[in-house]
Amino acid sequence: MKVLVVGGGGREHAICTCAAKSPKVDKLYCAPGNAGIAKIATCVNIGPMEFDKLVEFAVSEGIDFCIVGMDDPLVGGLTDRMEEAGIRTFGPKKNAAILEGSKAFSKELMKKYGIPTAAYENFDNYDDAVTYLKSAKMPIVLKADGLALGKGVLICNTLDEALAGAKEIMLDKKFGDAGSKMVIEEFMTGREVSVLSFTDGKTIKIMTSAQDHKRAGDNDIGLNTGGMGTFSPSPFYTDEVDKFCKEHIYQATVDAMASEGRTFKGVIFFGLMLTKDGPKVLEYNARFGDPEAQVVLPRMTNDIIDVMEACVDGTLSDIDLRFEDNAAVCVVLASAGYPVKYEKGKTITGLEAFDNKEGYYCFHAGTKLDNNNVVTNGGRVLGITAKGNTLKEARAKAYEATAWVDFDGKYMRNDIGKAIDEI
Ligand code: AMP
Ligand code: GLY
Repeated sequence: MKVLVVGGGGREHAICTCAAKSPKVDKLYCAPGNAGIAKIATCVNIGPMEFDKLVEFAVSEGIDFCIVGMDDPLVGGLTDRMEEAGIRTFGPKKNAAILEGSKAFSKELMKKYGIPTAAYENFDNYDDAVTYLKSAKMPIVLKADGLALGKGVLICNTLDEALAGAKEIMLDKKFGDAGSKMVIEEFMTGREVSVLSFTDGKTIKIMTSAQDHKRAGDNDIGLNTGGMGTFSPSPFYTDEVDKFCKEHIYQATVDAMASEGRTFKGVIFFGLMLTKDGPKVLEYNARFGDPEAQVVLPRMTNDIIDVMEACVDGTLSDIDLRFEDNAAVCVVLASAGYPVKYEKGKTITGLEAFDNKEGYYCFHAGTKLDNNNVVTNGGRVLGITAKGNTLKEARAKAYEATAWVDFDGKYMRNDIGKAIDEI
């Protein structure tokens, strides 16, 4: 079959790497892709929000199956558009992708169906938000309602910070329209775990757990980023946590969406916080995490196309979802200055070191081809992933492999997976 993947980051490189291995796939396309994806798929120069062009390409090329990797096109309704044109598509429709697209929606859903999450209030009026904040307990969390590249969350320690944050979100529109509404949420503490799942709208199957490192600097200092590295599985995701989440969170979310007439088919990413009162949902995403996909998918032993087709067809209960009994660590190599200001166009050397290296992966994120040279083209450039028998072994191998490649301004965190030492 002919498969089209929409997106062009490290997550889509990980998805394409799995799809390229599927015996079902004769021809793999990726729009827009990147320099790494170009080695295993035909990259098509169409942006993820150019729906007319994407649909036209899919129809004229005879695409049998489309996989939407990114949040923006899902929330914008690309799946609906593809399906209207007769293209089978993996990823939730617009009315279900709202689970990620609106934090106010997801909070209301959790409240209505009794799914554990932080206490909160929704606001669409700045003055009401200010009145509420003046009598609230600090620290407190402010969240722009809509998509904001993972940056629309402000943790405020004082009332002054909270008032300034509310102004930035709701009046100054720092995150654009995402800030027309705002969620004000109780501050929680605990360890964070990312749990990805496949669902066909009825059945939900959980993938192996992972943990992301969102801050730019070592020891979780600095600005929030899209994610600077991950490890999988998370040793803190114990059988007890798993049991609780299966009873109170996972199936409950799928059933709640179905009850609302918003059947969700695709990947639900549960961002969990393991608080002293038990696991609570921090956020939902309607797609694989990035860079969670880069540590979870290399450990999956199923044919990814089989699993995704089962999600679309409503036959996921027939799938035995399996992961290798090992571990993986991904260290992101970023451009100096990310996530604020950074340069592009720097030549990347050493990539060939990963060719045919069993257990090592160099997932491209912000890269492109420039006259046969691979150059940097974004804040997050590469995701260096290694598998090992244990998390410690995987981490040692991933860090060893970060030295194989180089580019001007190469920046990484040195403590990805450090928490492993605590156990
Ligand atoms: P979100 O995009 O909702 O996952 O938020 C981004 C990050 O902000 C999370 O990964 C947490 O580290 C932090 N965060 C979000 N909500 C809360 C909360 N209620 N309490 C404490 N930290 C939070
Ligand atoms: N790594 C977090 C995310 O993909 O949203």
